[in-house]
Amino acid sequence: MNITHIFVQYKAVVFLSLFIYVLFWLIITILKQAPIEIVHEHDSSTSNLDLILIYLSKCHINLLLIDPFVLEFLFVQQLSYKQLRKRLITFGIFNDSLRLLEPIFSINNFSVKLSNSDHIFIEYDQQIVHLAVLHPQNSYFLIQKNLLPLPSDVHLSYGDTPRVIEPQEAKFRRRKYRFSSPQNASHFLWLYNISQFIECNHALAKEMETNYHLYQNTSQLDLTIRPMRMISNALNQFEKHHWLAGGTLLGWYRHCGLIPYTQDVDFGLFAEEYDE
Ligand SMILES: *[C@@H]1O[C@H](CO)[C@@H](O)[C@H](O)[C@H]1NC(C)=O
Ligand SMILES: *[C@@H]1O[C@H](CO)[C@@H](O)[C@H](O)[C@H]1NC(C)=O
Ligand SMILES: *[C@@H]1O[C@H](CO)[C@@H](O)[C@H](O)[C@H]1NC(C)=O
Ligand SMILES: *[C@@H]1O[C@H](CO)[C@@H](O)[C@H](O)[C@H]1NC(C)=O
Ligand SMILES: *[C@@H]1O[C@H](CO)[C@@H](O)[C@H](O)[C@H]1NC(C)=O
Repeated sequence: MNITHIFVQYKAVVFLSLFIYVLFWLIITILKQAPIEIVHEHDSSTSNLDLILIYLSKCHINLLLIDPFVLEFLFVQQLSYKQLRKRLITFGIFNDSLRLLEPIFSINNFSVKLSNSDHIFIEYDQQIVHLAVLHPQNSYFLIQKNLLPLPSDVHLSYGDTPRVIEPQEAKFRRRKYRFSSPQNASHFLWLYNISQFIECNHALAKEMETNYHLYQNTSQLDLTIRPMRMISNALNQFEKHHWLAGGTLLGWYRHCGLIPYTQDVDFGLFAEEYDE
């Protein structure tokens, strides 16, 4: 093989590589600039729900299915997604996804309503996608109460009252849908059904500090809350109902923490569930 031959072959490879590179670059640039459209994937089999979800996934928003009705429908009863009929479906989004939602306000076809940046309602032709913002707080995710008046036929599963999602329950995985769902849907539903978040009395806690000089000891709090959390997680795992009781409940209500100088913790459980 002589030198010129190799050079000619080499040149061809270089030009071909260059051509492919430029082609890829062009495609990527064009794709990047393409405005997000909602109409293109609209065919007879695409529901209004899908139209909104397609749009949101194009915005790279991680949607967490937390709607109890839909979780029950898809993952407990194992019914088909295509048969799903519900006017409003609730998804959780983490608070840092809020900024990704900006472009949605410019889509003519969607009617977007906000409640204090805590709840977002995206309506398209009677179908509503409700996004409930999960605020990281202490060791849990808080969903605030919705303040926006809603049509009388719409009822919220999240936003009806403040609610909390535990980090253990916030492990979602992406299956075949455009959204993630809890790893263990029936367990998630069990917790949803039995739990309620009751906010402490911040004004009273302040008063305890200013008038009675009863301060929270943060190192004591850390010491106490860790085992409480472990016990509560274990009871959740075995699906045993439990709640704060006695002085611990009073401490949460009156001090937004523990009653100063207490060393013990009280949980309540049902005697009938004391079996194994
Ligand atoms: C969205 O709205 C525009 C007009 O604002 C209309 O032309 C278009 O057909 C609508 N798209 C869908 C999917 O309804
Ligand atoms: C999300 O919430 C956390 C805790 O409240 C806060 O520190 C953070 O700044 C929030 N992020 C955004 C983007 O708002
Ligand atoms: C949650 O409660 C609903 C209505 O009370 C019930 O239909 C459903 O089976 C319950 N789910 C679980 C997991 O307990
Ligand atoms: C706070 O709690 C820690 C741990 O129980 C204890 O050692 C410390 O003395 C407490 N501090 C005050 C000011 O009570
Ligand atoms: C879901 O969680 C419950 C309660 O912790 C457990 O009994 C069940 O085995 C779990 N199911 C799966 C599929 O992991």
